[in-house]
Amino acid sequence: MIVVETIKSLKQELEKYNSKNVGFVPTMGALHDGHISLVKRSVEENDVTVVSVFVNPTQFNDKADLERYPRTEEADKKLLEAAGCDIVFMPQVEEMYPEEDTRVFNFGSIETVMEGKYRPGHFNGVAQIVSKLFYAVEPTRSYFGEKDFQQVAIIRDMVKQLNIPVEIIACPIIREESGLARSSRNELLSAEERKKAALISQVLSKSVNFAKDMSVEEVKNWVNDQFKSDDTFKMDYYDIVDGNSLQSVSSWDESDYIVGCIAIYCGKIRLIDNIHY
Ligand code: PAF
Repeated sequence: MIVVETIKSLKQELEKYNSKNVGFVPTMGALHDGHISLVKRSVEENDVTVVSVFVNPTQFNDKADLERYPRTEEADKKLLEAAGCDIVFMPQVEEMYPEEDTRVFNFGSIETVMEGKYRPGHFNGVAQIVSKLFYAVEPTRSYFGEKDFQQVAIIRDMVKQLNIPVEIIACPIIREESGLARSSRNELLSAEERKKAALISQVLSKSVNFAKDMSVEEVKNWVNDQFKSDDTFKMDYYDIVDGNSLQSVSSWDESDYIVGCIAIYCGKIRLIDNIHY
């Protein structure tokens, strides 16, 4: 496995593979089993796998969140080597942003709901960095976790808008034993919070059973109620949406692809998860 820090050296390394299929997994590091499942899938499906590790400042609308984002570069390299990654791209901020990126994307209604509404500017920053990474890596396929459900929709739209010839592959959420969706942010939870955070996936799974007998509104209320008795939790939103348009649905027969998406604070840490109805 080779580690490179500049776009120039990344392209030099890639040239050695002579236009073979390139699989790409963009990450912000602090790698866990969720990321590793993406890397392994890329290794299986491509001739060469590139993983980027870059904590992208432009997608953080909260400075404190950027500062406390976990950074575990040496451990990341070991995990990537073991997973069969060929090239790790670990640029500095100046490499990716030699000057301010002033591009403003417009993703229409898929951007103004849920994460886009609660984290203004977040998806613009994601689109800025992922497009730059796609230009640098020129991947055949790129792999994203479904935990960031809305992010996958944004990336699909971005590559369409920019005519970037890459296949976007969404991979299933990987969970801890407790059911908690794997996230780099889980490392920031105290032991007690981490235990409590298992409630999130438990509530979502139970709500799928209730969907047979309850209206969409009732399920949303029920999910919200489950977190009210413990002030460790603070709900940002629980929305039940059409999985393509990401717009709220008001009845179960409105779409055959319905997803429940949650963003909730456990202590100071904001967690997201989703479930298919
Ligand atoms: O999902 C993430 O970790 C980030 O949003 C991504 C796609 C690596 C862009 O910085």
